[in-house]
Amino acid sequence: MAVRSPIINVMGNAALKAARGLIRDFGEVEHLQVSVKGPGEFVSTADLKAERTLKTELKRARPGYAMLFEESGAEAGSDPRHRWIVDPLDGTTNFLHGIPHFAISIGLERDGEIVAGVIYEPIRDEMYWAEKGAGAYVNDRRLRVSARRQLGEAVIGTGMPFGDRADQQAYMATLAAVMGATSGVRRMGSAALDLAYVAAGRYEGFWEFALSPWDIAAGLLLVREAGGYVSDMAGGHGMMSSGDVLAANSHLHLPLAALIKEAMRAARTAF
Ligand code: 2AM
Ligand code: CA
Repeated sequence: MAVRSPIINVMGNAALKAARGLIRDFGEVEHLQVSVKGPGEFVSTADLKAERTLKTELKRARPGYAMLFEESGAEAGSDPRHRWIVDPLDGTTNFLHGIPHFAISIGLERDGEIVAGVIYEPIRDEMYWAEKGAGAYVNDRRLRVSARRQLGEAVIGTGMPFGDRADQQAYMATLAAVMGATSGVRRMGSAALDLAYVAAGRYEGFWEFALSPWDIAAGLLLVREAGGYVSDMAGGHGMMSSGDVLAANSHLHLPLAALIKEAMRAARTAF
């Protein structure tokens, strides 16, 4: 039986409370799809409501901690060592389209290092959590990354560049390379859940460029605590600043990194 520490309980309870509102609002979104205006504004409000709930709950439990929230940005705290990094709704595009694949992500940083993470998936009622040194879990079950050793047998998750932020050509080259070398690529639209899936051994790996700290803070710790490796595309540890993330089980991290690096190099010389 997995014993949750007080801090994991604080994070989990905050997520459960915010999720109740999200589930209610998700039910509404399905009706709003058919209206001319669409559910856009309604979803922004749902997102902000979830963020307010999380902020209130986390603040009540640990008043001094600093905060970095997706919607409301950074807030300094009286305790300079601790910071919450929170995405109230990861997978917003899915939520907006009535696709039941989204999550709340809460990471806790101490002295610049992620020490606790919770990713809650309201629709399946799956609470992923990890604490540094204590392992990774979903609900009460211990998580381990997948044991597959062959890229040819691997299913790899990814996220595609949106807007004009990322280098599309380089991404397309990495996608072609991974498609050609593996058993399949999945693009499900929530980076937090993608990382949770690597931790759970559902995906052998995951890569995406230019993510934000709140998309990945909790997920990076989950993968590590489940025995996987996380890095940026160069094999370094600048994930939280660059937003570039490559996560995989311990056997496939190196081959996947080499494949992606080579594809990026070839794309750069071609264009
Ligand atoms: P979000 O749902 O909180 O926006 C998908 O590739 C990942 O990128 C998701 O985790 C998603 O988080 C994030 N993302 C950030 N901005 C996005 C955008 N404009 N369009 C799609 N995904 C976005
Ligand atoms: Ca997000």
